[in-house]
Amino acid sequence: MIGRHRHLTGLEPLSRDEIVSVLQLATSMKEVLRRPIKKVPTLRGKAVVNLFFEASTRTRTSFETAAKVLSADAVNWTSSTSSVTKGETLVDTARNIEAMHPDVLVIRHPASGAPQLVADRVSCSVVSAGDGAHEHPSQGLLDLYTLAEHFTAQAGKQDGPPDFGTLAGKTVAIVGDVSHSRVARSNLHGLGKLGAKVRLCGPPTMIPQGIEALGATVHHQLRAAVEGADAVMMLRIQHERIGDPLIPGTREYSKFWGLNEKKAAEWLTPSCVILHPGPINRGVELSPEVADGERSVILDQVENGVAVRMAILYLLAGGAQEPAAERA
Ligand code: CP
Repeated sequence: MIGRHRHLTGLEPLSRDEIVSVLQLATSMKEVLRRPIKKVPTLRGKAVVNLFFEASTRTRTSFETAAKVLSADAVNWTSSTSSVTKGETLVDTARNIEAMHPDVLVIRHPASGAPQLVADRVSCSVVSAGDGAHEHPSQGLLDLYTLAEHFTAQAGKQDGPPDFGTLAGKTVAIVGDVSHSRVARSNLHGLGKLGAKVRLCGPPTMIPQGIEALGATVHHQLRAAVEGADAVMMLRIQHERIGDPLIPGTREYSKFWGLNEKKAAEWLTPSCVILHPGPINRGVELSPEVADGERSVILDQVENGVAVRMAILYLLAGGAQEPAAERA
């Protein structure tokens, strides 16, 4: 259980304490992940099934890695090679997989609400690995973890565990296609609960009306959004979710809302870090020099993604012991 919750389909239903409990556990998990022999028996005998109805590199691989480090059995299921191609429904698919006794179903789906639809109909735990433009809760958690790690180091405590209290009062700019971004939505909920201030920025066609109600400020000029920010999160343009074009072209988008070395040098504070959930459209939202530059914590996000997903699986699959205690 994550606090009161048997499923993780979004960060919106979680309290601040429930979020922090996952992040704190991820610190122990990261220590396990970094060992030369990265294997503990915590989830031996448990089974995790990854049901991916959409492509993924990071999320699917890191859920699979997380399960394997904790000794759970991990099964990867892909819609393109399944009976979905013969017309089987999502609920039928999930209930048939459930009959094989998994402990956790990890679901990525193009439709918002799909993981919750399944969660309401199965007896095992369900984790959303990203649903439509709704939420991507494990991405939101790994982003919070990465930011706290950076802010803790910035406060001179780089040898200690991340202090999740350091997010309070910090300003995070989220830039890009907010209207199609489940990453932005999970971060809005998560950052807000941990006390950070969020600025949203993008072309007016990519910012949903009324989003300020979630506690963010809205900007349409990149400079105004990123100046003075403690961190900047660049979003991917979701070509696969955009019907009619929302921008005249990627060249114009890059000119006005993309971040390159010159803009970063002139507009960002020296300590400001840059995040991106991946996959990057190189040269569109980020120039290669910025994506691979000193401010970038993009690969830290990926590493932390495994630790956070280990914590999620541990809590939902009912691990018996604290992983840090299992040194053998
Ligand atoms: N960040 C993210 O969800 O990446 P993938 O689509 O590769 O899983």
